[in-house]
Amino acid sequence: MHAWLCTDPTGVEALKWTELPTPAPKAGEVLIEIHAASLNFPDLLIVQNKYQMKPPLPFVPGSEYAGVVQAVGEGVKHLQAGQRVACLSGTGGFATHVIAPATRCIALPDDFAYVDAAAFIMTYATSHHALIDRAQLKAGETVLVLGAAGGVGTAAIQIAKAMGACVIAAASTDDKCQRCLQLGADTVINYSTEDLRQALKTLTEDKGPDVVYDPVGGPLAEQAFRSIAWRGRYLVVGFAAGPIPSLPLNLALLKGAAIVGVFWGEFARREPQANAAMLAELVAWYAQGKIKPVIDRALPMAQLPQAFAQMGQRAVMGKLVLVN
Ligand SMILES: NC(=O)c1ccc[n+]([C@@H]2O[C@H](COP(=O)([O-])OP(=O)(O)OC[C@H]3O[C@@H](n4cnc5c(N)ncnc54)[C@H](OP(=O)(O)O)[C@@H]3O)[C@@H](O)[C@H]2O)c1
Repeated sequence: MHAWLCTDPTGVEALKWTELPTPAPKAGEVLIEIHAASLNFPDLLIVQNKYQMKPPLPFVPGSEYAGVVQAVGEGVKHLQAGQRVACLSGTGGFATHVIAPATRCIALPDDFAYVDAAAFIMTYATSHHALIDRAQLKAGETVLVLGAAGGVGTAAIQIAKAMGACVIAAASTDDKCQRCLQLGADTVINYSTEDLRQALKTLTEDKGPDVVYDPVGGPLAEQAFRSIAWRGRYLVVGFAAGPIPSLPLNLALLKGAAIVGVFWGEFARREPQANAAMLAELVAWYAQGKIKPVIDRALPMAQLPQAFAQMGQRAVMGKLVLVN
């Protein structure tokens, strides 16, 4: 097998495409031949030693991938050799093969494309858990999605539309806004050129959005929270802009609003049955055409450094995928 090996977590430049012995799965594990792997935000942080999880060296980055099971370890009952799977295991995906915990794999139907499957679990699980479980979104409500052309943002647009909500997508360029309209957003705001608060007032006739989905943070957070509707729910999803914002709590009082934390990985760990049911629903929605991963580009696995560079430039719409 070959893999992008990290022996020195000082950045993407230190990764080396390396030949390694193909391992055999131990109890509870499966060996997967990888067809596609997607880039998630933490993949960039982990190779720079800036992520909360610090795997022992050397390690292979690549949190999320899809492929075919080649062998199963002792005790693995729900998967078998030849089965198509998607997996989110934190590391191992930027390679031709990986050993993964069987419990982290979901079996895929035959018509689930590998490129889509590699870009599925993290973004759709996060946005489903955020909008449906944490925010209790109802049909007819208005959702503001910040960073709406990004990975979790595009998934949030599709899930909110599937729930019958009205979606205001907000992003930093006209091209990104245009892409959000193609994905089903009802209206868009370019927050680089428009005043977010004024645009929200106009679009919601002074009422404000019922739910704010925020994976960006930074200065947009307070502007969005100041605009939220009575009984609004503000979803703290991530801080792609860098600084972690603070919000004046009097705003929560004045609007009868809730600040709601979203941590899908911890939800999956603490509530595995609820998570499994949610993933099964998402796989069914994919089959019904209600959701479809937005793939910016699929590149050969050898071009991982170029893919990382594009992600670092804030230039990706949806997800970047690497294929073998
Ligand atoms: N809470 C959870 O369970 C959970 C799960 C998954 C991901 N996350 C977090 O959610 C965030 C977004 O993840 P993602 O996969 O959607 O990432 P992504 O595809 O890179 O999208 C992030 C978006 O943030 C915006 N942004 C604003 N300032 C930025 C900056 N300085 N650098 C990069 N992007 C910037 C960009 O949109 P514009 O250019 O339009 O502003 C970009 O499209 C990350 O912080 C991630 O860690 C949280």
